[in-house]
Parts: sequence; C-alpha cells; structure tokens
Amino acid sequence: MKEDLSQFIGLSDSRLFHMRGVAYKSYELARNVFKMEEDKARSLFTMGLMHDFAYAFVENQTEHEHEGGRILELSGFNWAEAVFNHGDPDADNWTDELLILNLADMTTSPDGKPITIGQRLEDIENRYGTDSIQATKARKLNKRIKEELAKRNLIIPNL
Ligand SMILES: [Fe+2]
Ligand SMILES: [Fe+2]
Repeated sequence: MKEDLSQFIGLSDSRLFHMRGVAYKSYELARNVFKMEEDKARSLFTMGLMHDFAYAFVENQTEHEHEGGRILELSGFNWAEAVFNHGDPDADNWTDELLILNLADMTTSPDGKPITIGQRLEDIENRYGTDSIQATKARKLNKRIKEELAKRNLIIPNL
C-alpha cells in the first residue's frame, strides 16, 4: 500500500541539520552541565536527534511535539515525555530531560548551528514578528528555562 506523506510539513534538509545540532548540544549539556553518566548522555543525544521528527507526519507546526512524543512513547523511549512537552513554557514539573531539550533547542539555529538564546529569539521575532504567538511563546520559554536552571543552581556561561 502506498501512503502519500506530501500533505505534511516534512523534514527539510535544514531541519535535519537542526536536529543533529540539538543532539550534540543535548549530549554536551547532559555530560558537562548536568553531570549525567555517559550512557544517559548518549541516550539524550538520540532524544535531540529525534525531537522534531514528527514534522514528517503533521500538517500544522503546533502538532509536531505531541505527535512525536506519542510515537516515541509507544516505541519505548524513556525520554518520550520530554519530546511531548518541548517548547511548552507552561508544562508542569520540568524534568532534567525536558530542560536539556528546551535549552538545546533554544541554543541551536534552525539549520543546526550553535547560537545564544538571544540570537534564537531575535531570529524567531524576525521570522514571525515581535508580537507573534511564536515570539511570545519563545520569550516565555526562555524565561522558564532560566528559572529552571536557577532552581537547580546551574550556571551556563554565554547563554
Ligand atoms: Fe520542535
Ligand atoms: Fe527543534
């Protein structure tokens, strides 16, 4: 049977590069900031690598997190919930995995380069408009990331 996936947003080349960038950043944060063991950090590398895969199966951008989390959950990945909740500043009880994913996502450009949170926000504001839903959500996410880091007494230089 042939399925037509062309109605979905899909995974552009730059999005794949973004996912790779988030993978390396997640690993680095897990290891160097959260002091997690090597195997755990490698597992979170795969979380970063997969976190946006569901763009291949959604028509609206806003659906990719939950659809991704759903499929990863039923595939048995224990960090699936972080993918489900990524990008949501109001998600309750942020786990370390969710903080790592959001932080990695917000410090990786849409084409996979390491950038600061400030640059990432600026890019979102330029693309969607300063008062857009996307920019408002991103600023809220940034604020929550900083609160969650402070709660854990974690300091990241050049954020
Ligand atoms: Fe995403
Ligand atoms: Fe992402």
